[in-house]
Amino acid sequence: MAVIIKMENIIKSFPGVLANNNITLEIEEGEILCLLGENGAGKSTLMNILYGLYCHDQGNIYIKGEKVEFSGPGDAIDRGIGMVHQHFMLVPVFTVLENLILGSELVKGLSLDLLRSKKELEEISSRYGMEMNLDAYVRDISVGMQQRVEILKLLYRGADIMIFDEPTAILTPQEINELYKIMESLRKKGKTIIFITHKLKEVMEISDRVVVLRDGKVIEAVETKTTNVKELAQMMVGREVLFKTEKPDTKTGREILHVDNIYALNKRRLPALKGLSLNVSAGEVVGVAGIDGNGQTELVEVLTGLRKIGSGSILIDGINMENRKSGEFLDAGTAHIPEDRLLRGLILDFPLYENLILGYEDKKPFAKGIFLDFNAARDWAKKLIDKFDIRTAGVNVNAGTLSGGNQQKAVIARELQRNPKILIASQPTRGLDVGAIEFVHEKIMDAKKDNRAILLVSLELSEIMNLSDRILVIYEGKIIAEFKGGEVTEAEIGLMMAGGHR
Ligand SMILES: Nc1ncnc2c1ncn2[C@@H]1O[C@H](COP(=O)(O)OP(=O)(O)OP(=O)(O)O)[C@@H](O)[C@H]1O
Ligand SMILES: [Mg+2]
Repeated sequence: MAVIIKMENIIKSFPGVLANNNITLEIEEGEILCLLGENGAGKSTLMNILYGLYCHDQGNIYIKGEKVEFSGPGDAIDRGIGMVHQHFMLVPVFTVLENLILGSELVKGLSLDLLRSKKELEEISSRYGMEMNLDAYVRDISVGMQQRVEILKLLYRGADIMIFDEPTAILTPQEINELYKIMESLRKKGKTIIFITHKLKEVMEISDRVVVLRDGKVIEAVETKTTNVKELAQMMVGREVLFKTEKPDTKTGREILHVDNIYALNKRRLPALKGLSLNVSAGEVVGVAGIDGNGQTELVEVLTGLRKIGSGSILIDGINMENRKSGEFLDAGTAHIPEDRLLRGLILDFPLYENLILGYEDKKPFAKGIFLDFNAARDWAKKLIDKFDIRTAGVNVNAGTLSGGNQQKAVIARELQRNPKILIASQPTRGLDVGAIEFVHEKIMDAKKDNRAILLVSLELSEIMNLSDRILVIYEGKIIAEFKGGEVTEAEIGLMMAGGHR
């Protein structure tokens, strides 16, 4: 196969970090190439360079043998390169169609030939098996659909080379399967795909070749069929990964979280929780399994004071939490790892040390009168960075400059250090590399050993199976089944998740 892109001796540094350290990478026309590497290895940076978003300090880029210099994404798009970022850049109050033609070269002034564009878009979407309603508003469609809009946008602009930065991190298992089908059909039509992911099973299923980065360097480039999950994990993190966490044998203590028959609406004011009850005791991990959209998000919100319940009751260590705000949930001993770290976990343009004390700036030892004791905050942050292996140039950089996985580690570090009575963990390992997942799982087990109560909400069934003492299945806003960890198979839980019966 012909080499379509060559990135040669690419060097890129940020203050205090050498993100890409002399990377040479060849991409063959029509392949699905997977870029793998631990959090902070330099994957997004390299792809942002290829897409013209970042300028490299040194090195060359060739497309079909011709040297190119990009001064922005516009140049990359002109050369047929498109990128789908992890966080979409769509306008929620516009329709799909309006989003698709926004900013496109084909649109000149007011003479929008909407009908023609629409026909063309319909043709493209059916050619690649991406049926969608072009007249729907983006705010009303699912995350998976929004991603399709982003992909369609690239195709409409004539992209031949498509970069996906962790496209599956936010998708449900069903949506992931659909994305694979789309990727297959893109490849069949001759498109070249570069794909970043942390899910090694996906790498094995979907890619032709894998390039592994570590510490800003290429460690390996292999054909997928010559390797396996274990070997890939080892290449990524430089040590063996076990994929199984030791569950400590702790005695469960008193009941910490008591939820009785709660009802709540979702953000579109439709019933989301419909008589849900559960409890979690000290020293116990309770996993909530379910297909996305069955009330998990609302459950986590009501348990952290971010959403009001209509009726029912929530007790934390015996305290009735009716009508309490999220700050009062914190004070009652709740910690929260939110499913969306950008929305609820971090303030990206605040320095890392402030993010690591969010929620307790006004408490000891960080409050000095009405002021923040900066030294105390920075010392604390340094300790957490060390303990949780957060890869960063220092405590003073803005949280937004951290790699996706390291942002997640920062949230987890802060929440676990609160020494909560109850930890509400929602998709805690989203976007983490296999080594970091193992580490976070160990930390959750340590919290269990320390007698904390833990409610784990995750779409990763293997994570739930691995960590939980009890597994609850949520379906249409209610708990419809309960299993003891270790006494049930993934298949059985899967059946219940779909609303079936044991
Ligand atoms: N805009 C920026 N400013 C400063 N530092 C940055 C910036 N972007 C990335 N970095 C740093 O460059 C390094 C590589 O980050 P990058 O985002 O490329 O990692 P990654 O491989 O994509 O990791 P992840 O899997 O966690 O997303 C990190 O140490 C990160 O902190
Ligand atoms: Mg990244």
